[in-house]
Amino acid sequence: MSARDAWKSKLGFILAAVGSAVGLGNIWKFPYVVGKNGGSAFISIYLACIILVGIPILIAEIYIGKKSQLNPVGAFRFFQKGKIPFSPIGYSGVLCGIIILSYYSVITGWICHYLMLSFRGFYGTETEISTIFDNLNNTPWLNVAWHTFVMTAIMLILMKGVMKGIEKASKILMPILGILLLVLVCYSLTLDGMKDAWHFLTSPDFSKVTGGSLLEALGTSFFTLSLGIGAMITYGSYLKGEVNITKSAVQIALIDTLIAFLAGIVIFPIVFSNNLEPSAGPGLIFQTLPVLFAKMPGGHIVSVIFFALVLFAAVTSAISLLEVAVSFIIDEFKCSRIKAILIMGSVIWLLGILSAVSSWNVAGTPFLDLFDKIASCYMLPLGGLCTALVFGWAITTETKYKEIGSSVITKILLFAAKYVSPILLLIVFLKEIGSF
Ligand code: PFF
Repeated sequence: MSARDAWKSKLGFILAAVGSAVGLGNIWKFPYVVGKNGGSAFISIYLACIILVGIPILIAEIYIGKKSQLNPVGAFRFFQKGKIPFSPIGYSGVLCGIIILSYYSVITGWICHYLMLSFRGFYGTETEISTIFDNLNNTPWLNVAWHTFVMTAIMLILMKGVMKGIEKASKILMPILGILLLVLVCYSLTLDGMKDAWHFLTSPDFSKVTGGSLLEALGTSFFTLSLGIGAMITYGSYLKGEVNITKSAVQIALIDTLIAFLAGIVIFPIVFSNNLEPSAGPGLIFQTLPVLFAKMPGGHIVSVIFFALVLFAAVTSAISLLEVAVSFIIDEFKCSRIKAILIMGSVIWLLGILSAVSSWNVAGTPFLDLFDKIASCYMLPLGGLCTALVFGWAITTETKYKEIGSSVITKILLFAAKYVSPILLLIVFLKEIGSF
C-alpha cells in the first residue's frame, strides 16, 4: 500500500485549514446573520462561542486526526475503549460532508455566474437587477451546468493529491483572497456609510439579543470553523512530526474571525451608504449588493473583485468537504485516490442536482434549504457534541497534557472542551430538536 499523503509544511497545513474555514460562512452568512441580530452585541456572543466551543473542538479534531492518522470513521474507531462503537460519529460526519457539499457546490455555481455577469457589469433598474437571481433559480439547466463545472474543478484539484492539489491551491488562493479583501476594505473606508457601519459593528445593543441569537451564534461559529463533520480530523491526519496543536487552532480561528469581521467592514458601509437595512437576509450578496454595485462609482471593478474573492473562499472550503469523503473511501476500502474521487464526486454531483433544480421540494421546502437545515442545524452540533465527549472523556487528561501541552492556555481550552463545549452543544441540539 502506498504511504499516506502528508502536508509539505506546517504553513501549508495552516493555509489549507484556513482555506477550509474561510468560505461562504464568513462572507455570505456572517454579515447577514450579524445584520439580522442587531450588530455588535451579536459579535461579542459569537466571539465567546469561538473561544469557548470553536477553538476547543478545533483542538480536539486536529488531535484526533493527527494521533490516529486516519479518516474520521477510522479515527473515531481508533479511540474506542469499551463496547460502545465510536465509528458512527465518523460515518455521520462523512454523510454530513456529502450533504453540505451537494448544495455548497450549487451556491458556488451561483457565484461563478455572478462573477461572469460582473465582468460585463450590472446595469438596469433595481427590479431588473434583483430578478437576475430569480431567473437563475428558475433556469434548472444553467444551475446544473454551473454545479457540474464546480464539482469537476474540485475533483481535478483533489486528483493532484494532498500536497500538490489541496496545499498548493490553498497557498495560491488564500494570499490572493487576503489581498482582494484588503483592497475592498480600503475602498469601503472611503464610503460615507463607513461611520454608521463602524458604529453598528462596535457599539453593542444587547436589547436585540435573544435566546435565538445565542443558538445562531454557536451554529455560525461551528459552521465557519468547519467543525462537526471531521474536516479538521482529515486535515489533521495529514500532519506529521512535532506540531503545536493549540497554537495552530488559535491561529486558524483568529484568521477566520478576522476575515469574517473584514467581510462585514466591506459589506455594511456599502449597505449603509445606500440607506438600506443591514438585515437584508441570505439574498444580501446576490440581490442587494449587485443593485448597489450598479450605482456605485467604480462598482464594476469592485463587483469583479468581490465575486472573485467569494469564489476563492468557497472553492477552498468545498475542497475540504470532498476530501473528508475521499479519505474515508481510500482508507476504509483500500481504493486508489482517483477512483475514490470519481465515486464520491459523482455521488455528490447527483445529490446536488436535487438542490440545483429549485422547483423540486419536499412539502414546499426546496432541497437546498432542507439539506442546509438537516446538516447545519442537526448533524453539525450532534457531531460536535460527540467529538467533545470522545475527546473530553475517552482520552485521559494526563495523555492530553503530555501530547498537546500543559500551558495555562491549553489547560483552560482542554477544560472548556471537556465541560463547557458539551453542555452548550447539548443545549443547542435539544433546542433544535424541539423546534423541528
Ligand atoms: N467553513 C466553511 C464556511 O465557512 O463556508 C463551510 C464548511 C467547510 C463547513 C467544510 C464544514 C466543512 F467541513
